[in-house]
Parts: sequence; structure tokens; C-alpha cells
Amino acid sequence: LKNVWLDADPGHDDATAIMLAIHLDNINLLGVSTVHGNGPAICSASNAARCLHAFGAPKDVLVFPGAVKPLIKKARHDPEIHGADGLGGVVGLPSPESVEVQARFARHPDGTPIHALEGMSRAIRDTWKNGAGRKVSVVSCGPMTNIALFVSVYPELLDGVEQFVFMGGAVGLGNRSPVAEFNIICDPEATQIVLDAPVKTIMVPLNVTHMAIATNEVHSKLRNPSDPSLTNNGDLPLPSSALRHTLSTLISFFADTYRATFGFNEGPPLHDPLTVAYVSQPELFKSQRYRVDVELHGIHTAGETVVDVWHYRSCDDSWGANGKNCLVTESVQVERFFDMLSEC
Ligand code: BDR
Ligand code: CA
Repeated sequence: LKNVWLDADPGHDDATAIMLAIHLDNINLLGVSTVHGNGPAICSASNAARCLHAFGAPKDVLVFPGAVKPLIKKARHDPEIHGADGLGGVVGLPSPESVEVQARFARHPDGTPIHALEGMSRAIRDTWKNGAGRKVSVVSCGPMTNIALFVSVYPELLDGVEQFVFMGGAVGLGNRSPVAEFNIICDPEATQIVLDAPVKTIMVPLNVTHMAIATNEVHSKLRNPSDPSLTNNGDLPLPSSALRHTLSTLISFFADTYRATFGFNEGPPLHDPLTVAYVSQPELFKSQRYRVDVELHGIHTAGETVVDVWHYRSCDDSWGANGKNCLVTESVQVERFFDMLSEC
């Protein structure tokens, strides 16, 4: 069983990452911390709580709200892709004020929320020190502010981290500039801190997530796996459960915004759940190890992940500041990934 701490900014694709982390058989989800990103931090937190409830997570899987802004830059959000509250157009989630959603927030005895950094460090310490050396995979689906703070504040706990797995960056591509991806451009300094940490780090870049397109065919199968055929009018089949209906509304909204913003006519890429899929079944991915740094100052290239594919820099074999610090995934078995999502 793989212990996972998930940090996210739900977010349509983040929501599907949460779904995988709850339901994959070989994953033990310890908690979810949330961060500014697709929407304001307060929306990330309540959306994570709404998803945990709607997707049937065990009651003790809780949300720990985290950083409301990047380390240095101003916060920026992505309403044109995810709606104003980060989960636009998704039907069937409980309201943020509901008792069930409020019960999902981790709280101190005096009722105040337990912060991301405290939740994450406590879970890793308990698993590592009290759990006979069991480690935790820390999965990042948003800007890496919380994780950079964890690295900086709790260096003594890094031995308890199995790996950092993050969705972000790209090799020569971008979606928020010609070469910068959203999660990285939101907090480039935080990303560099995580890349320099002495921990095995795996990157799931746009080059891979753009292979996992939720086409109409994929969407139909997710809506109704036993009868995925389109109706006579060419509409999607009726959803075979309430949860599949919720998932379908999520994909439809994401498909519309990706079509309008990026001209993706085949369907939207499902970026974030690939991180959880990697932890569960790394054998679905092909990867290579490189030196990766973030361009922190470039006029045209700020926020780019600079992947040293020709091994120009002399690096040793350590993870972190002096080494080939990142295992960069390069492809994924797409059909098996979508089967995994449907089973969950
Ligand atoms: C990333 O940015 C967000 O819009 C998504 O949730 C994903 O984490 C893709 O660039
Ligand atoms: Ca995200």
C-alpha cells in the first residue's frame, strides 16, 4: 500500500486526481492540502472538501488549507478554464456551507483549521517515525508553494518522503506563455526549491498530459461503461450513476473551456490525475532522468522548466541541487489510464 499526501488546487482535473487517490486499491490517502491556483485558496479548500464527500472518501480523510499566495509573486487564477470558483459547471457536489463539507476540514480542539504545513508534516512524521520507517509519496497538482514551505521548514522530515510527484512544466511547451505551464508560472521559486530538495522527484509535464485527452469516446465510456454508444441524435449516453453524471459535467465544462481558450476540439487533457496514476502504477509511464531547473528571470521565458535533455550540465547522480534531479515522464499508456479512472 502506497501512502499518499495530495496537494491540489481543485480544479476540474484536480478533482479527478482526488477521485483516483480515494479509490485506487494500492493507495492510502493520508490527507489533502490545498493551495492558491485555479481559483482563490479558499475555493481550493472547499472544493477539495466537496470532492472528498461526493466521491465517498473515508470520513477521516481531511482537508488542510494552505498557502493563499505564491512565495514571491502575486497570486493569479484561471477563471477562463475552471470558472470563478475553480469548479465551474460541476453538478452534484454538496454546497460549501453544508455540514458534510464543513466536517471535512481538519481542526484544532478550539475549532481553528489545521494548516497544510502542519497536516503534511504531522502525517509524514507519524508515518515515518511511528510507522516503522514507512514513507509517503507527496503528490502536487497545483502551484508548489505548500511543498516548498514544507521542504524549507521541515528538512529533517525529507527522509520520510518517498518521492515528490508533480504535474507541471513541459519540455519546450507552455499553456500560460509559449514555454511556461500554469502550475510553474504561478510559483516558479517554489518549484525550484522542490527541485533542489534531496528527494526523488518525478515530473508529469504537458507533453504527457496532452496525450490523455478525454475525447467523446472516452467521455461516453466514463458516463456509461456498459453502453457507451451515442444516442440517435449523436448525444452522449445516459449516465449510469449519479457519480458518473457528476464526472461527466466536469468533463463537459473542461471540454468547453479548453475548446474556447486553446482550440482543443478533440477534448480536454486530464493533467492532474496522471500524478496519482504514476504513484499507483509507474509501469504505465516511460521516463528519463535529467537536470531540470526553472527560469526565474527570463523576459520571454520566465516560468519555463529548463530540461537538460542533452545533458549539457555536469551533474552527479544525486537528487537535488547538484544532480540529475528529476525523472521526467515522457509517455503514458492512455487507454489503461482511462480504464483506471472509470474503475475508480
Ligand atoms: C495545470 O493547471 C491547472 O489548470 C490544472 O489543474 C493543472 O494542474 C495544467 O497546466
Ligand atoms: Ca491543478
